[in-house]
Amino acid sequence: MPAITASAPGKIILFGEHAVVYGQPAIAVPVHQVQARVVVKAQPGSAGINVLAPDISLSSTLAKLPLEDAVAKAIHLTLDSLGIKEPPACSLIISSTIPLAAGLGSGAAVSVAIIRALSGFMGHSLPDDTVNEIAFEVEKLHHGTPSGIDNTVITYGKPVYFIKGEEIKTIEISQPFTLVIGDTGIVTPTSETVGDVRRSYEAEPALFENYFKMCGMIATNAAISIQNSRIPSLGPLMNDNHDILSKMGVSNPELDRLVEAAQSAGALGAKLSGGGRGGNMIALVDSQSASAVESALIQAGASRTIISTVQ
Ligand code: PMV
Repeated sequence: MPAITASAPGKIILFGEHAVVYGQPAIAVPVHQVQARVVVKAQPGSAGINVLAPDISLSSTLAKLPLEDAVAKAIHLTLDSLGIKEPPACSLIISSTIPLAAGLGSGAAVSVAIIRALSGFMGHSLPDDTVNEIAFEVEKLHHGTPSGIDNTVITYGKPVYFIKGEEIKTIEISQPFTLVIGDTGIVTPTSETVGDVRRSYEAEPALFENYFKMCGMIATNAAISIQNSRIPSLGPLMNDNHDILSKMGVSNPELDRLVEAAQSAGALGAKLSGGGRGGNMIALVDSQSASAVESALIQAGASRTIISTVQ
């Protein structure tokens, strides 16, 4: 069997994080500058699958990994889906340039790359819908109630307008636009902020319903603006979305500082992205402001920046 390689991009949420868990629409886009990559190659004589991820010093076998390990789960579900009972004698090598636990979808991208590389190696490449379903099952290990937006945008590799449980809608970008992504360098598990939002929602349901609806309306207006090439109007929508997320309690001083730095340096708009209280923020820029915004973010303490064009 020839070696098979599969890659999957990172992702960033443009609008609607958290509210998406409660049925509101959200928009996410792939970030192709960062990628997860999986190579599966035959290892004659090996008893089953060797799993190697040199970046995180993982060297194990499928049999030794606990069933609740995300990599093991992606492999088991892929084999189950293909009806394969006996794991093949092979090595599965994982590498990724997607920062971990930073809202860039590293977990979902690794899952998608594993599912594609392993099913390809077995000679039965799985269709996107099945890849997406399996990656969603694995996402549930990271936090109990994922909306499914990460696995969806990463599986299809296109901007998506996503409503939990509804048919997937990809967004055609008629006018490309550029984001500067700034990392606070703070790692906060998504499960923590998702849990806190749930508790706040249970304590004050009417208030949080209202926040979720406002986020949903912003996401819908943003999708209309993108489709009609009204890119500058996304800026104020980002600022508004950030303010609501702050009220929901998922921003923090570091994110606020980066958002304000980007706005002052000429970004059209800026907001936190993903789970919050750390991880990344995004700023919408034009060709004049891109480098000034990037420098301002670094000056304001960003540990890393990525400039990504959505197209
Ligand atoms: O932190 P991220 O980018 O993986 O995104 C989490 C997005 C949430 O809406 C907060 C949770 C979810 O499952 O959609």
